Amino acid sequence: MYPFEKIAILLAFVSIQDAQSANILAILPHVGKSHFLVFEPLMKELAKRGHDVTVASFFPQSDPLANYTDISLKEIAEVRKEQINLQVFDKPNKIISSLGLQNFVTQVFAFQPLSDLALKVCSGLVNLPPLAEALQKNYDVVLIENFNSDCALGLLHVYGVNAPIISLVSGPLLQWSYSRIGLPDNPSYVPTITSRTSSITKFLERLENTALNLYFKLWFRYATQVKERAIIERRFWTKIPDLDILAKNVSMMLVNTFHSLNGVRPLLPGLVEVGGMHIQRKQEEYKHTSPIIPQAVEISIETCNVVI
Ligand SMILES: *[C@@H]1O[C@H](CO)[C@@H](O)[C@H](O)[C@H]1NC(C)=O
Ligand SMILES: *[C@@H]1O[C@H](CO)[C@@H](O)[C@H](O)[C@H]1NC(C)=O
Repeated sequence: MYPFEKIAILLAFVSIQDAQSANILAILPHVGKSHFLVFEPLMKELAKRGHDVTVASFFPQSDPLANYTDISLKEIAEVRKEQINLQVFDKPNKIISSLGLQNFVTQVFAFQPLSDLALKVCSGLVNLPPLAEALQKNYDVVLIENFNSDCALGLLHVYGVNAPIISLVSGPLLQWSYSRIGLPDNPSYVPTITSRTSSITKFLERLENTALNLYFKLWFRYATQVKERAIIERRFWTKIPDLDILAKNVSMMLVNTFHSLNGVRPLLPGLVEVGGMHIQRKQEEYKHTSPIIPQAVEISIETCNVVI
């Protein structure tokens, strides 16, 4: 072999290694489109940059995209737009109102249906052959929505996927998000997700906020996490760790908030605010500059660092 050819082969290997494209799995198991709209631009941008992206969601692409593989969850549950029952506001219960508890009760009931939905979706996920097939491959990083379910974390454990996990939160942090990344959540001034105010000033607001904070944590723990673990254990005939322990193993969390809008909070390096990640620039502006996402989020897979 001529030296020139040897060098050419060597260069070919070097350039393959230099590409550093990652194998990425995203599990976004919520039926609400508003959540997917926040994550979709990130998935598409990762695919555009040459990463191999597999997305399990209720919203498969209508036209196939290069480097982007869909696993449709549509058969598991009905996709729906977020609905708010306005009757709760129109016809407040007189006794509850007179006790000043209307606001509290409305917030408690706001999340109730989400646990039933989580269990329904989890029962479907554990029996979905395309997802099972995808979970048998190797990944460099797994992206999982942190919302009303931790079922995907249990599935990763069952299939032995031990890539670092990045949690994605489509809105403000949920009450059960804080502890998994070691963040303090002081209910004396950090409003719960359902709160109507962005700042808490009065004693009664503090009291209500503290009660709700506790309620949401217990609700997620016992109405969802514990039951999802049981669903997985029943399906696979194996014991898995407490989903809360698996949740505390996430390497990083991307949250759709921004401090100038959502208020100043104590943060940690593992939590990155990517508020507005999904907002596209205007078309004419877009031609001359790169989109917002590349500037906002640069995920470096090996180190699992997010650079803003
Ligand atoms: C798909 O990935 C390759 C590199 O693996 C990249 O060159 C190409 O631009 C990507 N395709 C699209 C449509 O983004
Ligand atoms: C925790 O995450 C690491 C990867 O970041 C993985 O190797 C390990 O198996 C995980 N531990 C558990 C208990 O899932």
